[in-house]
Amino acid sequence: MAEKFYVTTPIYYVNDAPHIGHAYTTILADVLSRFHRALGHDTFFLTGLDEHGQKVQQAAEKRGLSPQAHCDDLAPRFTDLWKTLGISNDDFIRTTQDRHKRIVQQILQKVYDKGDIYQKEYEGLYSVAEERFITEKEAESGQFREVRVLKEKNYFFKMGQYQERLVRYIEEHPGFIRPEHRKNEMLGFLRQPLGDLCISRPKSRLSWGIEIPFDRDYVTYVWFDALINYISAIGYLSEEKKFARWWPGVHLIGKDILTTHCIYWTTMLFSLDLPLPDTIFAHGWWLMGESKMSKSLGNVVRPLDLIQKHGVDAVRYYLMSEMVLGADASFTPENFIKRYNSDLANDFGNLLNRVSGLITKNHGGIIPEAGTPTPAEEEIISIGRTLGERVNALVHDFKVDSAINEVLNLVRAVNKYMEVQAPWKLAKTDLAAAGRVLYCASEALRLSAVLLKAVMPEKAGVVLGILGAEGSGLTWGELRSGVALPSFPPLFPRIEAEKPPSPRG
Ligand code: MSP
Repeated sequence: MAEKFYVTTPIYYVNDAPHIGHAYTTILADVLSRFHRALGHDTFFLTGLDEHGQKVQQAAEKRGLSPQAHCDDLAPRFTDLWKTLGISNDDFIRTTQDRHKRIVQQILQKVYDKGDIYQKEYEGLYSVAEERFITEKEAESGQFREVRVLKEKNYFFKMGQYQERLVRYIEEHPGFIRPEHRKNEMLGFLRQPLGDLCISRPKSRLSWGIEIPFDRDYVTYVWFDALINYISAIGYLSEEKKFARWWPGVHLIGKDILTTHCIYWTTMLFSLDLPLPDTIFAHGWWLMGESKMSKSLGNVVRPLDLIQKHGVDAVRYYLMSEMVLGADASFTPENFIKRYNSDLANDFGNLLNRVSGLITKNHGGIIPEAGTPTPAEEEIISIGRTLGERVNALVHDFKVDSAINEVLNLVRAVNKYMEVQAPWKLAKTDLAAAGRVLYCASEALRLSAVLLKAVMPEKAGVVLGILGAEGSGLTWGELRSGVALPSFPPLFPRIEAEKPPSPRG
């Protein structure tokens, strides 16, 4: 059976307007999925929406809508954006769907029957904004808003009993929480005693949630509900075969939701006797310049604005190339333009224009013969021959930014090679030699486009179409000589920085 790849994004809060943080995780999952599909792996890519909880209930009330109508109204902000961004997800789960609610209730019953859920009265600090009880230490951190003392009878999941087992598991599986510093952060967290998790909310306080099957006066805590999407969507307790095919998989998350995934979710899986995910990969934050992006600061970057200005593929390329694995990245309109101009307009776009221009001018618009490579071509060929393997290894390791850079390094090497070989001069004395150079450069462009297709499906597809090389693979030399190049508009026109208004009023 083919290798399989199951990848998920967090399910986003339906209340939030999508921003580049959401777009980043979803594009990352899309790029990984496209790479795996291209390698012939069976791939399943899941994303969706988190639709329960207090904030949704309150926002719906404000609008005078039922919570469900409110969710249905807002969901297209995400689904439409994913369509625009070319996201190739195989399923889209919403936690208000019956298929999900049913499984959450069955799981609650299962965990309850096992004796892993109990009821008790609890008095503690509660963050209304985060919708959960917090520890004194968390309250002191100042990171939680609307904190108040709450005394309530609730249901608790016996999370604490799994602490040692979880520590052992993390230590014995080095690739489980990634990057490494996030694993250490979680092991650090687990040095404190792990309490049990409050997983219910009385309906008197919150009704917009999934009802607890063994006590109708309660709904379940939004995280207990949301995390289950990763298995309800692929058939847990409903389609055995499908579930066995896909589970476990890779969870891509932002660093902000590390604890819920590495501690709540893993112990829930322990309780269900299910294997833990292969990998939980936490990426960093997109900052706006140096500061956090937030609605209250009014500095949130909306993907649609960028797409309208620069196109889908430029946005995908920027987000994937600019954020280094696991670290925070800073967005500014200036560095968007800088990256676009240097990589896409100058390095890639110029090479394409130059090569096709010369082929049209001196070779009748027909891709020339490869000829017998000289040491100069051999140098390029040796980079090209191993590029596919190197890029795929980096992608397997989630290093999409480094993988892109490897491809761009080939493009840069070919630009230098063109300068040195000067096929425009060679054409005057030795047309076959000029053709050899242009074949080599075109082949490097083809290979780069094959590898960049996961990142820029549309533009890379256009390049492959121009070269008559759709569906070609990663072997050097697949480019066919004799193909006529069509004329085409510039693929990556330079972006001129917006000039400040002239002082003359
Ligand atoms: N609904 C929960 C997740 C439940 S998963 C079972 C949630 N939703 S969210 O809408 O707040 O989205 C969280 C995710 O969005 C983050 O983990 C991250 O993937 C992404 N990002 C949100 N803001 C971000 C940045 N500024 N930068 C990068 N990604 C961030 O939490």
